[in-house]
Amino acid sequence: METCRAHCLILPFPIQGHINPMLQFSKRLQHEGTKITLATTKSLFKTVNEVSGSISVKAISDGYDEGANGIAPEIYLLKFQKVGSETLTELILKLQDLGRPVDCIIYDAFLPWCLDVAKDLGVRAGVFFTQSCAVNNIYYHVRKGLLKLPLEATEVDIPGLPPLLASDLPSFVSNPGPYPATSQLVVHDQMEKIEEADWIFFNTFYKLEEKVNDWMATTLPVKTIGPTIPSMYLDKRLVDDKQYGLNLFKPMTNACVSWLSERSISSVVYVAFGSLAELDVVQMEELSWGLRTSNYHFLWVVRESESKKLPKDFVKETFDKGLIISWCPQPEVLAHKSIGCFITHCGWNSTLEALSLGVPMIAMPQWTDQSTNAKFVKDIWKMGIKAQPDENGIVRRDAIGQCLITVMEGEIGQEIRKNAKKWKDLARQALEEGGSSDENTKDFVSKLIQS
Ligand code: UDX
Repeated sequence: METCRAHCLILPFPIQGHINPMLQFSKRLQHEGTKITLATTKSLFKTVNEVSGSISVKAISDGYDEGANGIAPEIYLLKFQKVGSETLTELILKLQDLGRPVDCIIYDAFLPWCLDVAKDLGVRAGVFFTQSCAVNNIYYHVRKGLLKLPLEATEVDIPGLPPLLASDLPSFVSNPGPYPATSQLVVHDQMEKIEEADWIFFNTFYKLEEKVNDWMATTLPVKTIGPTIPSMYLDKRLVDDKQYGLNLFKPMTNACVSWLSERSISSVVYVAFGSLAELDVVQMEELSWGLRTSNYHFLWVVRESESKKLPKDFVKETFDKGLIISWCPQPEVLAHKSIGCFITHCGWNSTLEALSLGVPMIAMPQWTDQSTNAKFVKDIWKMGIKAQPDENGIVRRDAIGQCLITVMEGEIGQEIRKNAKKWKDLARQALEEGGSSDENTKDFVSKLIQS
């Protein structure tokens, strides 16, 4: 490793799907010789500090030092902006007094006010987007007024992207009504001043989103730096990477990995819906019986808060073929040879993990960017199929059973497995020495050092 010459302060939005990719990126930057301070909220400090390895973690306040459970998004976001601007400024000034001046703030796009903090302090700024380049391009078009809301057409043409149906667009674009504060943040605020950032980082890799990346790069300083999969799976250079990262849920257990090891190759269906999605109770029931009546073993992550929706006695009844757990080490599970496919909500981290580890997907998108990710998984990357909901938005048990047969046994499944190998190789190449993400990361570090 080179001697440390530049100091980046990294600030993720305090949720599972944002901290992990930014923590992995921090490790990569540290490997390239930058000094890193990872800032997080006081309520998460202990948890993040436990998994950060040699990365220094510091706490700032979001105004809710005991945790913000149950606080409405519009209240939380405003408070975080107010208190966070002050406490982030204090932290940077303190680091300066300690002889560790910050050269660049890399902030989560969900915290757009960090740009103002950086400017006020005369520090450079990079904005980190945890979602795909395609999804960000859609939001960018809305914010530029190039895609008018509410949508009038049922199909839209956006430069850099294939034709998209309204139903392929992120829910905050196709139907922003139910979550006004989050829609405002995601569709408008995070895009508001991105032209003023010195760097724009996307957690994706060039070959995966070549066209849209090229289009965005014509006007914006974008850099693809992903996938931020733990390097032990793709690129073994980062030795300080014994574990994936943050776990905001029940402690990870290796019991599921032992269970997987008793199953034959490509025989198990892995089912997980990320850290936020809440399934309709009817959907839980249909999924339960779809899995139960299929021929396959399944490993299903049902978070504690969702477990009451499982049919009565389901856990007991599936004892011989299913394992239900409240949280697992997902990248380790996806990398396990027994996994045959992944029923996923298509959160961006889960999608990237499955693509990069070569696991065929059955997409069951729920909200936010997931419909767009599902569209790409099925039609562009050909890495999976989409489970079709009925007119009430529920994917019925028969549809689930049919999807499983298609992916696990059908010709389409074979085709997907061929593509899976291609994407896995391309993801690895992007991160390896001289790969696109590796070069982009190195280029950022060298520019930071020079200027
Ligand atoms: C959210 C959004 O919903 C998602 O659409 C957006 O792209 C990012 O923020 P989340 O819903 O949690 O994230 O989904 P996802 O992006 O897939 O992130 C979940 C993360 O939790 C993944 O990195 C996954 O590996 C991890 N995970 C999930 C575990 O480690 N164990 C589990 O049991 C389940």
